[in-house]
Amino acid sequence: MAKQKSWEKRLNSSPDPLMVDFVESLSIDKRLYKYDIAGSIAHAKMLAKRKLLTKSELGKIEKGLLQIERDITAGKFKFDKAYEDIHMAIETALIKKIGEPGKKLHTGRSRNDQVAADLRLWMRDQIDVIKTKITGLQKTLVSQAGEYTKNVMPAYTHLQRAQPVTIASYLLSFVEQLQRDFIRLENCKRLADISPLGSGAVAGSTLPLDRKTTAKLLGFPDISYNSIDAVGDRDFCAEFIFDCAMVAAHLSRLSEDWILFCSNEFGFIRIDDSFCTSSSMMPQKRNADAMELIRGKTGRIYGALTAMLTILKAQPSGYNRDLQEDKVHLFTAADTITRCLDMACAVVSHSTFDTNRITSGLNEGFLDATALAEYLVGKGVPFRQAHGIVGCIVAYCEKHSMKLANLELNEFKSYSQAIEADVYKSLGAANVVKQYTTAGAAGPKQAKEQIAFWRKQLAKR
Ligand code: ARG
Repeated sequence: MAKQKSWEKRLNSSPDPLMVDFVESLSIDKRLYKYDIAGSIAHAKMLAKRKLLTKSELGKIEKGLLQIERDITAGKFKFDKAYEDIHMAIETALIKKIGEPGKKLHTGRSRNDQVAADLRLWMRDQIDVIKTKITGLQKTLVSQAGEYTKNVMPAYTHLQRAQPVTIASYLLSFVEQLQRDFIRLENCKRLADISPLGSGAVAGSTLPLDRKTTAKLLGFPDISYNSIDAVGDRDFCAEFIFDCAMVAAHLSRLSEDWILFCSNEFGFIRIDDSFCTSSSMMPQKRNADAMELIRGKTGRIYGALTAMLTILKAQPSGYNRDLQEDKVHLFTAADTITRCLDMACAVVSHSTFDTNRITSGLNEGFLDATALAEYLVGKGVPFRQAHGIVGCIVAYCEKHSMKLANLELNEFKSYSQAIEADVYKSLGAANVVKQYTTAGAAGPKQAKEQIAFWRKQLAKR
């Protein structure tokens, strides 16, 4: 019974192979090895400080763990699922390597506080990676926006032409969304950044552990203050996956726009050939498959969130093995969102707006109707009344296949005496965007201000 684990002395028989296969998490959690080893070294140092290990034992443990880390990184470590998880796999390898001192490493520790610490350490790094990728996409969007501050496109509500906006403002709308994602992740990191080590299995320990030292060694600014909560808390996992899901929601909306705008029906955007796919049958096709896949992969992340929340629901207090299921969903969410952010960034930076085509269509859809109503407000007409007047003018134009800007002044006057010769400055998409005055509006002035703001902001990261 070479592979008997110490706790199996309690049991009368070795585990059934079906059981070994079912309970193992090594195949998933082996990627936590660096964090597990960092946590173990910090724990060992603290044990030595508290005279629970000698200096020489600590030296051997540390050296052994670092050797194991090198072996794993080099792909020379043999992972055996009989050891259940990365924690046992490393501890067993350590004991095999250095003998007796290795058997002291788990003093005052349980895999319950160990795995909670590993996950928090992993998440801290992972959040930094995602934040960097969010910043990258924001920078790409801002730089694209810089190319199109003067170009106008339609904005849509209900996917019907609504009001004219600058292409820059349109692009900047995604920078705002991503900024909220960035802040959410920062906040998540703050909440995750506490050390559960020393909480043991559920009740802490009777040994004189110095939890603050371990926390400090691992760069955790604080420790958890209730061992029962600490071993069962996975709030930070649900929150992290939610934050990824929100990024995915934003990328999926961006993708949806891109897919529509690349279609012949719109023809607003052209993605470089290097980021298009074609069809095995239809030779003319240039598809935005990357964006469709980003939209599709959002499903995975939402699935991970639903799974994580469901795992947490109605678990009894303390640690339960259900929690082992957290990792597969955490990793799915993290891996998927990092790849999607990379892809979105590449596609956006390899896209160009067909400004001629967009401009040629700006006369359609009465994009200037709202501006005309506001022009009337400026002439003292109550808005409700102005809205009605413009509605009638639009209906008249539609009937006679005309644009608002084509009407003669006397035709306008037949609808409202308040309309004067200066009305033409408020008509036509290009004129309208210049008249936007509110902060945060989608005109060229605001776009330029926002680009300057973001350039400065993003350069600090
Ligand atoms: N592999 C487990 C996890 O990922 C940690 C082990 C805790 N096992 C236990 N029997 N208490 O959550």
